[in-house]
Amino acid sequence: MRWWIVFLFVAGSAFGCSGESITASTGSGIGPSGKSLFFSRTKGGCSVCHKVADKKLVGPGLEHVSKLHSREWLVQWVTDPAKVWEENSMETVGMKKRLNKNSQAVTAMKIMNPLTKEEIEAIVDYLMTL
Ligand code: HEC
Repeated sequence: MRWWIVFLFVAGSAFGCSGESITASTGSGIGPSGKSLFFSRTKGGCSVCHKVADKKLVGPGLEHVSKLHSREWLVQWVTDPAKVWEENSMETVGMKKRLNKNSQAVTAMKIMNPLTKEEIEAIVDYLMTL
């Protein structure tokens, strides 16, 4: 009986089944895809406010969003929308004008849960396919 326990333990470690190696794999390309983060209610939470269509929800529809913004801007925006709104670069000014938000002091976009750098990159990779 005890041998089985030892065997399972050794086999588990040998095949990398420990909890530690599962955590370590996140963000190394095997983590959740940008699309699943976008539609996740607990992580990215983007789909709570955005449709992937030319249709407004809380925020603008994100169909063709890759034609509207640079990848670099998107990474900054998803990292810290409030900061990008305040810094008001040319690209942000253009967006405010297009969305008719010139007089809005702060952005209404809030990131539901903190995202890691890898998760942000994955979400932006997904946005770039739209
Ligand atoms: C609480 C609602 C909310 C959530 C959650 C949210 N957004 Fe937004 N988003 C907005 C609003 C509202 C705007 C328009 C700017 C404004 O009015 O402040 C916007 C603007 C944008 C834009 C620019 C669109 C354009 O037409 O130029 C992109 C891209 C974007 N969001 C991506 C995302 C992504 C990716 C996520 C998830 C990580 C996300 N948003 C989560 C509300 C939200």
